[in-house]
Amino acid sequence: MKSKAEGLMISPIKDGTVIDHIHPGAALIVLRMLGITGKTNQELSIATNVASMTNGQEGKKDIVKVSNRELSKEEVDRIALVSPHATINIIRDYIVVEKKGVESPKVLYGIVKCTNPGCITNANEPIRSAFEVTEEGLHCLYCDTLINTDLENHIT
Ligand code: CTP
Ligand code: ZN
Repeated sequence: MKSKAEGLMISPIKDGTVIDHIHPGAALIVLRMLGITGKTNQELSIATNVASMTNGQEGKKDIVKVSNRELSKEEVDRIALVSPHATINIIRDYIVVEKKGVESPKVLYGIVKCTNPGCITNANEPIRSAFEVTEEGLHCLYCDTLINTDLENHIT
């Protein structure tokens, strides 16, 4: 159900991807996980802490709309690490043609930098970081370092 606040703050898009029901306040980290930085020239709308109704419960959520780009499953599934209840809506000619949830990847490639300075992924080698995603956190597949706090501070 659309809240009045959302309707006023953020317009529908013609084509692209809407990431909805993002954990309130997490939109900026979601953008970073998608590799979208302050230098982007993409058309973006971002709303944070807007009123939302979920199963009749009032709450808050963030929304990110990326125009003219359909994000791949690999790209969007990373978001599950910070916002497991996000939904991805693909929009074509103003219509929602696809709606799906996010599933945490089993292995996360790139995006997060290993905290071990001696890890081979931090040497001057063309090796992409790789972490096994478990309930405990992210385990580096190269040196077994565990990252389970401040994920946002370890995004490349
Ligand atoms: N949306 C958009 N531009 C469009 C169509 C939809 O930005 N042309 C956005 C809506 O604002 C909403 C999301 O895409 O944030 C999903 O749209 P829709 O499925 O119509 O909304 P709901 O039914 O409220 O979705 P849900 O049940 O997933 O909350
Ligand atoms: Zn490592």
